[in-house]
Amino acid sequence: MGKDFFKKFTEDTNVKLEMYEDYLMKWLPVFIVPPKPIRNTVNIMDLFCGPGKDEEGTLGSPLIALKVLKEYEGYIFRSPVTVNLYFNDKEQKHIDQLKLNIEEFGYRKDLINIHYSCTDFEELYPTINQLASNSANLLFLDQFGIKYVNQDKFIEICQLSVTDLIFFISSTTFKRFHNDKNINQILNLTSDEIQKEEFYKIHRLVHKAYNSFIPEGHSYGLAPFSIRKGTNVYGLIFGSGHPLGLEKFLDICWLKDETTGEANFDIQGDVKLKEQPSLFATEEAKTLKIAVFQSQLEDAILKGELTSDLQIYIFALNRGFTNKHIKPIISKLKKEKKIDLKYPSFKCGTVWDRKRTPRVVQIIK
Ligand SMILES: C[S@@+](CC[C@H](N)C(=O)[O-])C[C@H]1O[C@@H](n2cnc3c(N)ncnc32)[C@H](O)[C@@H]1O
Repeated sequence: MGKDFFKKFTEDTNVKLEMYEDYLMKWLPVFIVPPKPIRNTVNIMDLFCGPGKDEEGTLGSPLIALKVLKEYEGYIFRSPVTVNLYFNDKEQKHIDQLKLNIEEFGYRKDLINIHYSCTDFEELYPTINQLASNSANLLFLDQFGIKYVNQDKFIEICQLSVTDLIFFISSTTFKRFHNDKNINQILNLTSDEIQKEEFYKIHRLVHKAYNSFIPEGHSYGLAPFSIRKGTNVYGLIFGSGHPLGLEKFLDICWLKDETTGEANFDIQGDVKLKEQPSLFATEEAKTLKIAVFQSQLEDAILKGELTSDLQIYIFALNRGFTNKHIKPIISKLKKEKKIDLKYPSFKCGTVWDRKRTPRVVQIIK
């Protein structure tokens, strides 16, 4: 698998890498900008790192991380935080090439520590826990295929503190090998469940399976992003124990896909197109996901199920929506004089502040 992967990154790989870069751009400042940092060490762990770029010179994840770090050099210089990059690949040739590529790319050795290893992920995995303790971590697991983030590992990773996870998974593989018990075991899905799902929605099902693994009572946000290449659907799964992480990832998703915030293709339009290929039906389908959410939100507010801006924010985030989808509904309800809600916020930075009292929703009878 992946023989020609590094010849020239394909369009879908570039989508994945763009999302990784966008998230790094949003994630790093949270830890390196505050003068009193949350953690003294920041680790970016890219444990299926490859050689750093493709043969045409397009940057891969390791050089993307260095590019982002370069942009924040000034902050890193002023920050007391130690920044570590962990690059691992089981192929020695990739690690050797990566070292050359990084020397050529250049980086501030006084500001950034790079740790290379050439180990099978399975062997390296037990050490992650210790590396991640007492630091802020971004774990990027860009595996080929599906097998390295199984249920047990996922459960352990999602309980690491101050650790965000982005992993790639070839969701299509579950569809293609739905009768293979070894493959189904990875996510505990039955052949029936997989077969029932349309191919373009398979990554949603995979996300749902991971969601179900989150231990009871453990607060963890998980978001999928589906990437299609022909009839294959791959994707990223993002996970964070902090709402800010999920909010930032969702902002990126919604910039990439204004219709559903979860795919680089028309993940809901296809359904309608098949049933009724009219322009109107497609237009209608495009607004479906947002419209359904907004109507659920309105209902929940009017029924008194969501009584503060904080509750509204969490309700939205858990369903993959953010500020920009909430605000129109709040404005509408206020304009119709159905609710009153003074100075609400639906951004983590404000609403999640423990010192702030959540703004109360008043239903006007
Ligand atoms: C999809 S590529 C990673 C691409 C990289 N993120 C980039 O942007 O260029 C997957 C990498 O995982 C490596 N790999 C495959 N199996 C592995 C394993 N068991 N442990 C560690 N690395 C592995 C491959 O050699 C390959 O370089």
